[in-house]
Amino acid sequence: MSTINYTSWVTSVLTLLYRSFLFLACLSISYSASAQAPAIIDYGSRFHPVVSDRGMVVSQSLLASQIGASILSQGGNAIDAAVATGFALAVTLPQAGNIGGGGFMLVYLAEQQRTIAIDYREIAPRSADKNLFLDELGEVNEAKARFSHAAAGVPGSVAGLVHALESYGNLPLATVLKPAIALAENGITVTQPLAYSLAHAEQRLRKWPASEGYFFRKDGSMLRPGDHWQQHDLAVTLGKIAKQGRDGFYKGSVADKIVAEMNQHGGLISLEDLANYQVIERKPVTGTYRGYTVSAMPPPSSGGVHLVQMLNILEGWELNKLGHNSADYLHRLIETMRRAYADRSEYLGDPDFHPVPVARLIDKDYAQVLREGINLNKASLSSEIAPGLKAPYESPQTTHFSVWDDTGNVVSNTYTLNFSYGSGISISGAGFLLNNEMDDFSAKPGAPNAYGLIGGVANAIEPGKRPLSSMTPTIVFQQGRPVFTTGSPGGSTIINTVLQTVLNIVDFEMNIAEAAAAPRIHHQWQPDKVFVEPGLNSDTQGLLSAKGHKIVPSTRVIGRTQTISSDGSHTYGANDTRWPGGGAVAQP
Ligand code: GLY
Repeated sequence: MSTINYTSWVTSVLTLLYRSFLFLACLSISYSASAQAPAIIDYGSRFHPVVSDRGMVVSQSLLASQIGASILSQGGNAIDAAVATGFALAVTLPQAGNIGGGGFMLVYLAEQQRTIAIDYREIAPRSADKNLFLDELGEVNEAKARFSHAAAGVPGSVAGLVHALESYGNLPLATVLKPAIALAENGITVTQPLAYSLAHAEQRLRKWPASEGYFFRKDGSMLRPGDHWQQHDLAVTLGKIAKQGRDGFYKGSVADKIVAEMNQHGGLISLEDLANYQVIERKPVTGTYRGYTVSAMPPPSSGGVHLVQMLNILEGWELNKLGHNSADYLHRLIETMRRAYADRSEYLGDPDFHPVPVARLIDKDYAQVLREGINLNKASLSSEIAPGLKAPYESPQTTHFSVWDDTGNVVSNTYTLNFSYGSGISISGAGFLLNNEMDDFSAKPGAPNAYGLIGGVANAIEPGKRPLSSMTPTIVFQQGRPVFTTGSPGGSTIINTVLQTVLNIVDFEMNIAEAAAAPRIHHQWQPDKVFVEPGLNSDTQGLLSAKGHKIVPSTRVIGRTQTISSDGSHTYGANDTRWPGGGAVAQP
């Protein structure tokens, strides 16, 4: 018995010692784990960004992001990677990635601590005039403004991407174009999202034999997921750009093909228009928000001006105390959006043709006046906010990509064909689609368009003028260091999408993936409606209705952001899950 008791006592002591050892070992593991590898993401979050200790590329096409990231690995900087991504998107995301459209690029150069806004927006051909889209009765011919050869502005994408590379990149043009040329020549596998978007544009594309040849199977049926799809003519055009730079597009055989197409179908773009296309470097619009500095696109995009203006108004309230997407918070947001978009309709246009009062619009005192006019309990009526001209319609089809390299250079780029697949018209023999950006001008001041919206005099068509845009590539800084960059497609919803992304990150301390996933709202003064995404609490919607807001479920998602942030040692990428084909890709 005593032997048994002794054995039992020894066993108990040994068990206790063993457990203590395990406990101490666990403590030491968790201590050394946290000492050596502190958590860089919050595992309690529902959405997570992709993390890298090097560079990052985020775009709406996984393939294009992979190409950008591989350019970073080859020693390219953020600008090289952005240009490679931009050309790759022209192959893999034909609904918005493009060489036949235009856009805006924000470049932050870490070494110089300088941000440059590159404007490569399309311009109105020299023979365009303000009555271009009016019929003999003086009414707007909507088909002509959106789906004809005359709807095309002089494309700026090739000039813009080449300009960025030659000014701020490290690698030769042929190197950054090589992957896009290979994708076009060797072909890509049609993804589900690509097949989906092609099916939605079927009618528009079938109308034009060249587009039917490029965007359908050889037997004329729809491309399906899993199909192998080659774009030989596009590969040849990209090859000419690789060899000759911008002249490979704006002069020679590609330019001849564009002009032949115009001459055959009543389009306006001439060889002279193409040869004279100019990229413009502009000073970004800059504002401050709760200690952060926000740098965004100046006119002819309205994005930067109204992003800063809205942040100025909202800075006067402690938004985080109201609760994210609460009725009190959204009421302030809606009233702010209403006022900014009202100003947009009256003051914004191409600054080289029409003076835009940027300084006044982004003035903090002006924001205070607007804020003080907001009744916190009751919705305003848009008709009482500003009786002036109303905002022009813009299509939601555009695309954004963001790039961050491991030396801290940042690129935030938004470009577009305007509508999905632009006008649907391809340049025969050259393999690319034409934009229908002339529809972003106001065809007739005072006349409602298909969406009941009206355009302003500042944005009337004039030869050589750039149409007003909402594209909002944005970089946000803290103590002089870039901390995140974002942007979105979505036409007139872009500015509000970027605004809500900034607020989610700054005021509500969300990580960039959570900031992207949160449901968004949109109000653009006219129509006087609040568009809401699925996921916004119905009780909140009821409270907003009770304040007098007209709540409308949005028929489309509101924006699709591509965001990158950095804490100085890691980059974090988040592709908005609203478009499933995209990807945040870490530099390998
Ligand atoms: N085409 C849309 C925009 O420029 O905002």
